[in-house]
Amino acid sequence: MAELQGKRTLVTGAASGIGRQIAELFVEEGAQVLLQDISAGVKEIADSLGCPSITGDVSKGADVQAALDATSKAFGGIDVLVSNAGIEQVVSLLEHEEADFDRILDVNVKSVWFGIKYGAPAIIASGGGNIVNMASVAGIGGCPMFGAYAATKAAVVSLTRTAAAELRDAGVRVNCVCPAFLDTPMVTDRAFGKLSAVFGDLAPILQAKQGRLGTPREAAQACLFLASDRASFVNGHHLVVDNVLSARLL
Ligand SMILES: NC(=O)c1ccc[n+]([C@@H]2O[C@H](COP(=O)([O-])OP(=O)(O)OC[C@H]3O[C@@H](n4cnc5c(N)ncnc54)[C@H](O)[C@@H]3O)[C@@H](O)[C@H]2O)c1
Repeated sequence: MAELQGKRTLVTGAASGIGRQIAELFVEEGAQVLLQDISAGVKEIADSLGCPSITGDVSKGADVQAALDATSKAFGGIDVLVSNAGIEQVVSLLEHEEADFDRILDVNVKSVWFGIKYGAPAIIASGGGNIVNMASVAGIGGCPMFGAYAATKAAVVSLTRTAAAELRDAGVRVNCVCPAFLDTPMVTDRAFGKLSAVFGDLAPILQAKQGRLGTPREAAQACLFLASDRASFVNGHHLVVDNVLSARLL
């Protein structure tokens, strides 16, 4: 039996990396998925899955609302929202520019709040369901060169907890996922170059911290669990996907 049979789902940031894997896995598990992204490339990926898509910027409330409306229109309601879209900035706190700081807050935090603010009423109107937010291990510990990013992901964990408390009795579960470094364009095409310029060879650091680079599919599997009825009593939780990184002191 498919885990998400018939679940009407919106995935944001679905044109790349983790979001793309979430969309693919959810379709494999029987969900009806609408893929959202700021990149026009989302259409080709959605077409390949036989799914509808929409472009938009999740830092804008109207665009999040439009994606939710498109999902409800396409499928007759919405059961699951995965607020996955996010951006990184690899820079020290002292060197961070204010405009960049504002942008990362808007894309990573306001988007999640918009998903709760506009997504929960739509899910309630559809008979109840759940929201999965994409946080990060960066949100549960200090993270040099990722200061603003880490702050946004701590905010995602916090918004998840408050939303779960506020929405439980209305029939909406809210959880988030906290992955470590995964093999996605965010990490391998962008962050690693900047990090190795500061820290040197990253291979031994990565090996010591998390054993290996995770795959986006492994984060998508965590989202699948949280979105599924198997997690019916899991609410307000941050699910860490990091192969020990955050658990060890030595
Ligand atoms: N890759 C990792 O190691 C890792 C670890 C922990 C958390 N995360 C989080 O997972 C999520 C996905 O990251 P990824 O690694 O797949 O990154 P990615 O850069 O490969 O993909 C991110 C997607 O989000 C889209 N996007 C960016 N800004 C957007 C906006 N304003 N509106 C709509 N879409 C937008 C991009 O176009 C892209 O398709 C992010 O929230 C990221 O912070 C990633």
